[in-house]
Amino acid sequence: MKKLIAVLMGGSSRERKISFLTGRACSSALKRKGYKVINIDTKNEFVEKIKKIKPKIIFNALHGKYGEDGYVQSILEYLKIPYTHSGIASSSLAMNKELSKIFFKKNKLLIPKSIVIKKNQNISNVINYVKKKIKFPLVIKPINEGSSLGVFICNNSKMLKNNFKKLSKLYNRILLEQYIPGREIQVAVMGNKPLGAIELIPKRKFYDYKAKYSTNAKTKHIMPAVLSKKKYTQVLKIAKKAHKSLGCRGITRSDFRFNNNKFYLLETNTQPGMTKLSLVPEIAKYKGITFDNLVDWMVKDASYNR
Ligand SMILES: Nc1ncnc2c1ncn2[C@@H]1O[C@H](COP(=O)(O)OP(=O)(O)OP(=O)(O)O)[C@@H](O)[C@H]1O
Ligand SMILES: [Mg+2]
Repeated sequence: MKKLIAVLMGGSSRERKISFLTGRACSSALKRKGYKVINIDTKNEFVEKIKKIKPKIIFNALHGKYGEDGYVQSILEYLKIPYTHSGIASSSLAMNKELSKIFFKKNKLLIPKSIVIKKNQNISNVINYVKKKIKFPLVIKPINEGSSLGVFICNNSKMLKNNFKKLSKLYNRILLEQYIPGREIQVAVMGNKPLGAIELIPKRKFYDYKAKYSTNAKTKHIMPAVLSKKKYTQVLKIAKKAHKSLGCRGITRSDFRFNNNKFYLLETNTQPGMTKLSLVPEIAKYKGITFDNLVDWMVKDASYNR
């Protein structure tokens, strides 16, 4: 009999649309692999549904809030159904850039300088401190979002104040980060083994939402990233360390800026995108792992007590 897999997708985060792209792509792959597959949108009541259909495995294709931050993982632990990707603690640490930075620092990983400000803080009162600590240009972003949503590069105090005003309506804690010029390199890690590094060259100002998901944006993907052998090995090693420092499982993707011969770690994603333009499948393909085999590996790697 075919094994029943439920693919969780959609949900209620700002990345809902992208999650459907990831979810549908993975769902089709699982069908091709011979599984029986049911897609579940977690925006609506889904726990009773899972209890009723009793899937053997849950494939988590959610991105962002509630799907990537430990919430859904704790429900799945409670239900004792094996699920893909990272467990509760790793997911919530990785999704929260303020917290993951503590772990990265502890593990001596190079990260951009940063400050966190609360939404009700008066930005004018901290601007001098910000200028002294980080300097312009700087990057403002939510501590817990994805797909570059809410990420803005600020060249001066005015831009910072305007963007802070926008973000403070949506988020409680906001990260100000030193802008790292240079190149965009991302590394996939599969079960504690680094797979490869890709370089992205956006035509836009930076690797923003459009540059990530729209073919019209014509972001250049260079796989493998053109780096010396030494540097390529180094960034793979850093990504593995980042993955392990948060206790991640399954597949992750770590994002870097490469400047002055140094890799600055921006974040580790525990639910990396699996859309048509996504990077983990592209890196895997270069290593001879097809999309379908990658998804199948994730299912075979699933467990609870993660
Ligand atoms: N400190 C920085 N210096 C330079 N560029 C940055 C910096 N922070 C973010 N960026 C740019 O913005 C992009 C998105 O940033 P980041 O990865 O932090 O956001 P995210 O929303 O979590 O993204 P993801 O889609 O990977 O979850 C980066 O890939 C990079 O191009
Ligand atoms: Mg990122």
